Amino acid sequence: MNKRDYYYWEAKRRGYKSRASLKLIQIDDRFYLLKSGYHVLDLGASPGGWIQVVLERTGSNGHVVAIDIAPLRIRDPRVKFLRMDVLNHEVFEGLKEYVPFDVVLSDMAPKLSGVSSWDHGRSMELAERALEIAMHTLRTGGHFLVKIFRGDMEKNYVKKCKQYFDMVKVHKPKASSPKSAEIYVICKRFKLESTP
Ligand SMILES: C[S@@+](CC[C@H](N)C(=O)[O-])C[C@H]1O[C@@H](n2cnc3c(N)ncnc32)[C@H](O)[C@@H]1O
Repeated sequence: MNKRDYYYWEAKRRGYKSRASLKLIQIDDRFYLLKSGYHVLDLGASPGGWIQVVLERTGSNGHVVAIDIAPLRIRDPRVKFLRMDVLNHEVFEGLKEYVPFDVVLSDMAPKLSGVSSWDHGRSMELAERALEIAMHTLRTGGHFLVKIFRGDMEKNYVKKCKQYFDMVKVHKPKASSPKSAEIYVICKRFKLESTP
């Protein structure tokens, strides 16, 4: 069995909707982003593997606001789903009543074309938008986790994150396929006050 199959079956065995859950578990076990009672924004949340992990780790007082262009089939009173495109300007209006968040997560990914420079560009557009949303919705001291596809704009993005967060690390969890260009940027302790 190759690595990809192992994480696929492991996620299934543990009742998760996607292998992505195991990536978030590995990241959170190492960087401690989620805590009981936290209020979390999950960008690109479908089919809901990260939401399952967030609900487990934030407990009965935790809440998730989930956004995706695709439908989501999780019914839980702690989850509020907003079906929208994050690039749409209405996203800030939609989030107004839920701010501030303790953690903003983004596992958003474009539809892959197979052309790495194009996929990198589209992924960076989503990551820039996720950072912009985090800056408007995070509480001071809050955390931000974002997926990007590696490429030449990565360095500047990480540099930018460092202006706004105390600690920034780039990490690829074991559950992420080595063949995939995806990596995660982990940003801890937002230094500013959000500007809704
Ligand atoms: C890798 S999947 C996320 C998997 C999810 N974290 C999970 O654990 O189930 C990426 C998601 O990003 C969403 N997405 C891509 N572009 C988006 C956009 N502009 N606005 C909102 N969601 C977007 C896709 O629809 C897709 O569901």
